[in-house]
Amino acid sequence: MAVITVDSGRLGAAAELEHCRALEVGNILLFPRTPFELPEADRTFLLTQRQVGAGYHKNIAYRPQSDRVTGFVKRGGGDAERLRRVLRDYSARVVESTAAMFPTYARAWRLDFASFRPQEEAGRELSQRARNDLLHVDAFPTRPSGGDRILRVFTNINPTEPRVWLTGDTFERLAEQFALSSGLLVRARRRTPGQRLRRLARALGVPVSIRSPYDTFMMGFHHFLKENHRYQETARKERHVFPAGATWMAFTDMVSHAVLSGQYALEQTFIIARESLALPPKAPISILERIAGAEMA
Ligand code: SIN
Ligand code: FE
Repeated sequence: MAVITVDSGRLGAAAELEHCRALEVGNILLFPRTPFELPEADRTFLLTQRQVGAGYHKNIAYRPQSDRVTGFVKRGGGDAERLRRVLRDYSARVVESTAAMFPTYARAWRLDFASFRPQEEAGRELSQRARNDLLHVDAFPTRPSGGDRILRVFTNINPTEPRVWLTGDTFERLAEQFALSSGLLVRARRRTPGQRLRRLARALGVPVSIRSPYDTFMMGFHHFLKENHRYQETARKERHVFPAGATWMAFTDMVSHAVLSGQYALEQTFIIARESLALPPKAPISILERIAGAEMA
């Protein structure tokens, strides 16, 4: 796993494929200069925002589909409307820039939430499962991916301080080590009444909101890693410093990561369709299906 520095936001077709492959196997792409525009006035405005109940809301979220903001302190004076405008513009620009770099992904991706992270990460008091400073791979409790992948683009808008991450082994290695021994893979594949119903509905082509075995596994694995003290202590770790003004992207379902310090980051999440991957066998769902010898979708 490596951090690959990219100079320009414009990639040709050959570079696109090369960068897709690099991302999909668990590398991070780093743009020391953010490849999209972030007006100075918007950045300055964001640095004055505070979030509500920092223990409950992990960050300020922006939902591009419904144009809604959640998790910030309302102070009146038109701030709420301005914050929404700033996050809407940020989201539109990062989407445009990422789509220009990765047209193949963009054809079938689903736009997930954007977020603004105004809290200092060093010394944050969050519940064990919400803690950002413990190594984990991402899974979203409320938005199961069904086997599609989580691509996240982060921008450090702090004027001076870096954002510091730890990364550990890739999902592939972690799954080889823990998927079976943790009991999670077997548990996720259990034929519960809910799973039977889900299969039936899928066979009939009826939409259901019951989680796939894959999503059950990924959520459990997220918790398992954060709660596993021995793993946290003994894991192979690398420290990465993302400087002020930088943008970086990673498949956070593959790169195990934790944030140690930093304040004021913007982030946009994309759900990348399994079908549009350059290396489908490297998708976490494919890795698990190989280990399980069965379908997980
Ligand atoms: C995370 O996805 O674990 C948080 C990373 C960050 O906020 O830098
Ligand atoms: Fe994460």
